[in-house]
Amino acid sequence: MKILMLPGDGIGPEIIAEAQRVLEHLATDSDLELEIEHGLIGGASYDAHGEPLTRETLERARNADAVIMGAVGGEKWAENPYHLRPEQGLLDLRQGLDLFANLRPAICFRSLASASTLKPELVEGLDILIVRELIGGVYFGEPRGIETLPDGERRGFNTSSYRTSEIDRVARVAFDIAKLRGGKVCSVEKSNVMESGLLWREEVAKLGAAEYSDVALSHMYADNCGMQLVRQPKQFDVILTDNLFGDLLSDVAAMLTGSLGMLPSAAVGAAGTTGLFEPIHGSAPDIAGKGIANPCATILSVAMALRIGLNRADLADRVEAAVEKTLDAGYRTADLGEGKHNVGSRGMGDAIISHL
Ligand code: IPM
Ligand code: MG
Repeated sequence: MKILMLPGDGIGPEIIAEAQRVLEHLATDSDLELEIEHGLIGGASYDAHGEPLTRETLERARNADAVIMGAVGGEKWAENPYHLRPEQGLLDLRQGLDLFANLRPAICFRSLASASTLKPELVEGLDILIVRELIGGVYFGEPRGIETLPDGERRGFNTSSYRTSEIDRVARVAFDIAKLRGGKVCSVEKSNVMESGLLWREEVAKLGAAEYSDVALSHMYADNCGMQLVRQPKQFDVILTDNLFGDLLSDVAAMLTGSLGMLPSAAVGAAGTTGLFEPIHGSAPDIAGKGIANPCATILSVAMALRIGLNRADLADRVEAAVEKTLDAGYRTADLGEGKHNVGSRGMGDAIISHL
């Protein structure tokens, strides 16, 4: 199996190092055969090559069995024009691989229920999945820009747009997964104020009625969904939403699980395309280089890569169980609060490997 690792910026290299150690350990005690390569993305690529994702790196990603990424972004590149910002490298990678659906599971591990800022009884046993559309909507819509108006004022503008096929293909992913879980999809938009949201609602409803009568479909406005996620998160099973709302709501959902440092993700496309697996958190420049970042989201992204990208559910189960046992044994990085063993990135990686 050929894995391309893209550490990126900030804490990226530190958490990717632990993810790689977990993978390498698995290879030593299973029949998994690995070929691990590294590449640059984000600010690291910009510094080396003058662009946040090179054509060559994208080509290598296409030829890999799975891509595992750390994080991108940082102050250093904040003044770059958008097309040269670290974030653009990630957007180009998602788009270049045609990864239209992003699976963001928010699972609250038993021993972390008290680490959440919400009451433990609200989050205990939480298992929801956000299916975020990933290569459309306001992130990619045209026209966009900042212009100077005749009266001298400046105007910034972006376009939120979806076509039916873009809605249909990501909705199918959500419906199909819901069938394997709790059988419920909640489709989230702002159809009360946005045409792109109205079309979203209509298309999802049409598809649900035509092909997924066995899935219970509901609709919710995005603002209400944000509120419901912190009021009663366990009411949800699968949340299907657009690119921007998915970005927002997955950060909210992450805090339900104890820390933003716990949420993995899988970006997937049509059958046969290479998937991209990454933690949902950012590059956390404030703690970069200190060796204290929580590697769990990245290690759980490795589990998603094994399950979805490499078809090795057996190994994915082992990684997830090892993370759970490590947390049960009281290992905590700083973001998770105090535990029996207060560890940094390396210490958490060591503990997970020993539980493997
Ligand atoms: C995420 C991140 C990215 C996004 C950034 C880094 C471009 O916030 O994966 O949630 O906005 O999609
Ligand atoms: Mg985000």
